[in-house]
Amino acid sequence: MTVVGIHDLSIATASRFLDLALLAERAGIDPDKYRIGLGQDQMSVPAPDEDIVTMAAAAAMPIVERHGASGIRTVLFATESGVDQSKSAAVFVHELLGLDPATRVVELKQACYSATAALQFALGIVARQPEESVLVIAADVARYAVDTAAEPTQGAGAVAMLVTQDPAIAEVEPATGIHTADVDDFWRPNDSDTAVVNGKLSIDAYLDAFVGAWDDYRARGGAAIESIDYFCHHQPFTRMAVKAHQRLAVHTGAALTPAQMESTTRYNRRLGNSYTASLYFALAALLDGEDDLTDRRVGMYSYGSGSIGEFFSLRIRPGYRTALRTEATKRILDSREPLDVDAYRALHAAHSASSEVDREIAPTSPAPFHFIGVQGRARRYARTD
Ligand code: CAA
Repeated sequence: MTVVGIHDLSIATASRFLDLALLAERAGIDPDKYRIGLGQDQMSVPAPDEDIVTMAAAAAMPIVERHGASGIRTVLFATESGVDQSKSAAVFVHELLGLDPATRVVELKQACYSATAALQFALGIVARQPEESVLVIAADVARYAVDTAAEPTQGAGAVAMLVTQDPAIAEVEPATGIHTADVDDFWRPNDSDTAVVNGKLSIDAYLDAFVGAWDDYRARGGAAIESIDYFCHHQPFTRMAVKAHQRLAVHTGAALTPAQMESTTRYNRRLGNSYTASLYFALAALLDGEDDLTDRRVGMYSYGSGSIGEFFSLRIRPGYRTALRTEATKRILDSREPLDVDAYRALHAAHSASSEVDREIAPTSPAPFHFIGVQGRARRYARTD
């Protein structure tokens, strides 16, 4: 049987960040509420020339440089924060990366979940056409209104993955468990560029979908809890993953330990929520950690409000470390520019999805790709390296 899965994984984020202790201080809140209660230290904040397209292209570029573009026949772009109601963000990335015209591109949406749908679809394509590879990209800017309880759970980031046969990093195992339910826990109406959220309901909906997806996974032949070594849970804020882990332990009666998921929160504590990319940042952090994961099984829980939960598992491949990008990820996170609260608030207020008036945006971020403005109601991007 063809083994299919993740052959390469590369990340990008916005060029600026806010230390949440500063936000807590401004709001007169104990910083430990964010640091311990939410499990968040910082959040990435996009500059005016950064969005999901620029982060996605920056995440995918090293993959194309390492493997070449010739095998990539499909680009699946998962996002909650799309930049156009019709045109796929994948078209912009296709152009910025100079991919072959004979490439299928499409955008997928279901809140924070759609990267997992993209991964599953990619596996199907590669299983049928093993000589092809699929570029899966998850990119999001998480935006809530300022002065709300959700404000410290914003963030931004992108993860690009190359899905192939005989993958270098992880095989995706066939069993998968799904739970879908119509819940108004978090959504973003077409006329709003910040999410509407019922925070407490969203936490319950996340956990209910987890239990439902887990039961479906087991019913469909998924691995027993004792044979799963590590767990990556979707991390809107990293304490949510701890709550998920605890719920799974109670639900299954298993003695799960914090060590099975602790290292997965390392990057998300600093990025904040990156919606579709969040689960795959958790995976990147686990892979980059100290434990040798060779032949280990990793449980993956993906949640998208509205709502869908999916649980599936990976088996980490021998020699996986040679494919990792640990140093590059560290450099990307460490090189972000710190903001004070006023500068962050100014960027938040200046954000505009409007295409009514032509405008030019000066490239200010050090990233290789830039959003350079709107012309004739169409968004324009450029590569400047
Ligand atoms: N020191 C330590 N901990 C403290 C503290 C202090 N001084 N003060 C408070 N805390 C703890 C609280 O006890 C609480 O912990 P528990 O959850 O363990 O009880 C935690 O900090 C949060 O405090 P509150 O319960 O008072 O929560 P809040 O009103 O500040 O709101 C939130 C938190 C609901 C997560 C809000 O930030 C929010 O709405 N975020 C957006 C929605 C979200 O992320 N939902 C997650 C599930 S939905 C999903 O996963 C999809 C997605 O990506 C959006």
